[in-house]
Amino acid sequence: MKRPVLTYMLALGSAFHSRTSEGCALNDDDVLVVHGGTPLKGEIRVRGAKNLVSKAMVAALLADSPSTLFDVPAISDVDIVRGLLELHGVRTSIDKDRSLRMDPTNVVTAGVDEINVHAGSSRIPILLCGPLLHRLGSAYIPDLGGCNIGGRPIDFHIDALRKFGAVVEKLPDGMHLTAPQRLQGIKYTLDYPSVGSTEQILLTAVMAEGVTELRNAAVEPEIIDLICILQKMGAIIKVNTDRVIEIEGVDRLSGYRHRPVPDRIETGSWAAAALATHGEVFVRGARQVDMMTFLNVYRTIGGAFDVDDSPGGGIRFWHPGGELSPAALETDVHPGLMTDWQQPLVVALTQARGLSIVHETVYERRFGYTAELRQMGANIQLYRDCLGGTPCRWGRRNFLHSAVIAGPSKLHAADLQIPDLRAGFSHLIAALAAEGTSRVFGVDRFITRGYEDFDAKLAGLGANVERP
Ligand code: EPU
Repeated sequence: MKRPVLTYMLALGSAFHSRTSEGCALNDDDVLVVHGGTPLKGEIRVRGAKNLVSKAMVAALLADSPSTLFDVPAISDVDIVRGLLELHGVRTSIDKDRSLRMDPTNVVTAGVDEINVHAGSSRIPILLCGPLLHRLGSAYIPDLGGCNIGGRPIDFHIDALRKFGAVVEKLPDGMHLTAPQRLQGIKYTLDYPSVGSTEQILLTAVMAEGVTELRNAAVEPEIIDLICILQKMGAIIKVNTDRVIEIEGVDRLSGYRHRPVPDRIETGSWAAAALATHGEVFVRGARQVDMMTFLNVYRTIGGAFDVDDSPGGGIRFWHPGGELSPAALETDVHPGLMTDWQQPLVVALTQARGLSIVHETVYERRFGYTAELRQMGANIQLYRDCLGGTPCRWGRRNFLHSAVIAGPSKLHAADLQIPDLRAGFSHLIAALAAEGTSRVFGVDRFITRGYEDFDAKLAGLGANVERP
């Protein structure tokens, strides 16, 4: 966290920019009606992290025997990866208690047309490259999807795969890869500690011949958990100091049984909702160790929390009364403040007295959703400058990636079109905190990607919401 730089912000006052409409049509079949103004009170439970579970499912492909992943959330991103695994011959089944069994004994090449059904649905398919090259010698990857929060290039992935020895060919609707011979370990330095690229290299290096040394790797808790899974499978991976990971390739990996890290993004989202609505939410399953950076921010802005670390425990978040305080925040790779916590926290900061600054350093276009918050009465200005202590990649390149929030603002109801997953949950929080009845469009398309059963969770917390 940095202290607000008020004089600097005032000098930049004329740099205000509004977002242009992205032209999404409102769809009456995919809407949640929110009668705002009721504090959220009660308990919800989080399961395994979306951003680990989907990668753990890909890892199962590397094994020559079945794997079981426990506590898998019922979200559409899991369904997409499951569909892709099944297309490649992996037999899957899921129990009522959400244990997912994956049997990759008979992996087969899938049809391009069938794979293309998943085009544009998620970013996970790119991670199938290494496992499919090891199992089949070739892979077809559909065009990727994912949230529109920046350019989201895959240049690191492709560059590393080529260095491993893969031949990569871009096709009109996707990408075809082959491994003319066994992939070979590499020495690789990422230009930026990208989560997906680190996972790509891990999932490829574990069965490549020889040693891979990855420098400037991402070390998010979900990556460390993926490494734990790979270690259970038989991989040899050393996480050294200074973001250096060393992987010794092995000839075979076997199935795993694993309980994933809890979803720290969902936890932070409900915590911010508790704060913005003056409520109290116990997030069962949340773990302090994954949330430490978030918890510091939460306390700084005036939120209260209490950790119950007994088995089956969680974290209780609440608004203790009084006014919230502003903060200067900067998103960063782990152990910094997660970019996915940014949007829910910004909604809470609209209720803080004074000026808050948020510098988004991970994605170049992650403030689009603030246009809707302004429409609801929030006072948020966007800047192209790096309004934080660390000059980032986006300042020099003219992206609106810093925000100044002046609060507190009384939010009023509006029709909101969700632009992406995390922004969508923030729109929901804003609608819950606002006075009056809002309509939030795009909830099924976007929010179900990452939030299990959110209608029921909202109802359980006493929110006044309905499907028309
Ligand atoms: N980047 C490149 N080249 C690459 C790959 C990444 O320049 O080849 C850049 C990106 O453009 C971005 C930065 O590196 O500016 C970070 O991207 P990263 O690769 O870390 O992100 P990701 O793997 O695509 C995952 C999560 C995101 C989360 C980020 C950052 C999944 C499926 N997605 O994305 O989660 O925001 O890491 O922690 O794990 C979400 O859950 O809503 C979500 C967007």
